[in-house]
Amino acid sequence: MKNFGLITFMPLLCVFDYLGNKVIMSHVMHLRSSLMTKQNFKEELVNDVQGITKFHHYSIETILPKLSNSQLAQQITNALKFPIKDGIVRVETRKYISFYQQNQNHNQVLLNFAKLDFNMLQTLHKKELSHITRWWKELEIVNTSPYVRDRLVEAYFWSLGVHFEPQTSVTRKILTKISFLLSIIDDTYDIYGTIDELTLFTEAIDRWNINASEELPSYMKIIYQNLLDVYNEIEKELANENKSFLVNYSINEMIYFQEAKWYYGKKVPKMEQYMKNGIPTSGYLLLATTSLLGMGETATKDAFDWLTTEPPILVASCIITRLLNDLLSHEEEQKRGDVVSGVECYMKEYGVTKEEAHTKIRKIIENYWKDLNAEYFKVDVAIIPRVLLMPIINLTRVSEFIYKDGDAYTFSKNNLKDTISEILVDPII
Ligand SMILES: *[C@@H]1O[C@H](CO)[C@@H](O)[C@H](O)[C@H]1NC(C)=O
Ligand SMILES: *[C@@H]1O[C@H](CO)[C@@H](O)[C@H](O)[C@H]1NC(C)=O
Ligand SMILES: *[C@@H]1O[C@H](CO)[C@@H](O)[C@H](O)[C@H]1NC(C)=O
Ligand SMILES: *[C@@H]1O[C@H](CO)[C@@H](O)[C@H](O)[C@H]1NC(C)=O
Repeated sequence: MKNFGLITFMPLLCVFDYLGNKVIMSHVMHLRSSLMTKQNFKEELVNDVQGITKFHHYSIETILPKLSNSQLAQQITNALKFPIKDGIVRVETRKYISFYQQNQNHNQVLLNFAKLDFNMLQTLHKKELSHITRWWKELEIVNTSPYVRDRLVEAYFWSLGVHFEPQTSVTRKILTKISFLLSIIDDTYDIYGTIDELTLFTEAIDRWNINASEELPSYMKIIYQNLLDVYNEIEKELANENKSFLVNYSINEMIYFQEAKWYYGKKVPKMEQYMKNGIPTSGYLLLATTSLLGMGETATKDAFDWLTTEPPILVASCIITRLLNDLLSHEEEQKRGDVVSGVECYMKEYGVTKEEAHTKIRKIIENYWKDLNAEYFKVDVAIIPRVLLMPIINLTRVSEFIYKDGDAYTFSKNNLKDTISEILVDPII
């Protein structure tokens, strides 16, 4: 067994907290006592593998070959590929229902309810997506800026990974629109805009006033206009809960993101500096802030102020996302434009091959996951209730998920397409 220090134990506790689930809690308690005596831990695993599958993948590698039950082995294989840090609730639920159905001892009533619940929520999600699609059809951007990744459904899926519950519908809508525009703006900086155009665009963004768009080339005017429109709409939406003023937190992060893109765009700094720059350019300061809009009473002004201090948990999330993106898309992005990536910075600074840089960067990502888990427990819950930390954790999980098998967002291929169909199109029958 690998070392069972506090760090290893941390994810187990997190799982309990994230799932808030008594069944799983009993597994944790069980585990906690077995952990006291390392020798019997392995035996415990063999007896109790189903519950533990979700927990920790190191442990399970050792027992996988001993299993005769193929359905269980499949479930474990899934857990190894998507350990808890990568799980997206809707995706995991859907998989779990299928596994459960194949289990001969399943409880039929429970199974029926689980399917009904899944399908009802899916109907709601479909309805939301169709509303958002109507908005998207009226945007001219896609015609006037043909270079952009036009990925509305993927942006919705991203938001769904952060908030899936029926009561978070407003937040989901806001987050989808902002992440869709974010990727358009990202492409404009990375692959299309000239330095002069981008300088004008960044200045206009700083002014944040429709009159500032006059100087812009026509394709940028349209992006600018759409951006301001969406924020006006969000402001109106938030007026329903007397929270219009919160829109400014998201706007400020949007401005910061664009300034950072403009400023850091084409330089190849040292790795440490690159990671610092990656905090705003990951887009996650913006998305994490945006993912608290529309959450009503819980998301207080204090919580938004806290986010602006760039707390370590958020920094970890940003850097993980920045580096995951770099690992999987840097060649493609370099083909499309001359964007600097962490891989390039690492290779240049340490004089290593691409493969070595990849290995090292994966290690850096793992360490930031440990930070993120540890920070989750350090945050003062009197100011920031755990429920407000979940969007940060869940956003990071979406990054892991999306970048797992290649850059599924950019290429919208293989697994992501199938997963999206399962989550958003096909009911469970
Ligand atoms: C984040 O994921 C956890 C489970 O891993 C889930 O319980 C929670 O509801 C999710 N948060 C949101 C806001 O959807
Ligand atoms: C834009 O300029 C016009 C004319 O100069 C002015 O009337 C209007 O108030 C300005 N709009 C904003 C939002 O500042
Ligand atoms: C918003 O403020 C108005 C006026 O102060 C008040 O009447 C209304 O009840 C408030 N709405 C909410 C959702 O707090
Ligand atoms: C946002 O900030 C700007 C400038 O600081 C201010 O003029 C505006 O009223 C604020 N908007 C809201 C909705 O509070």
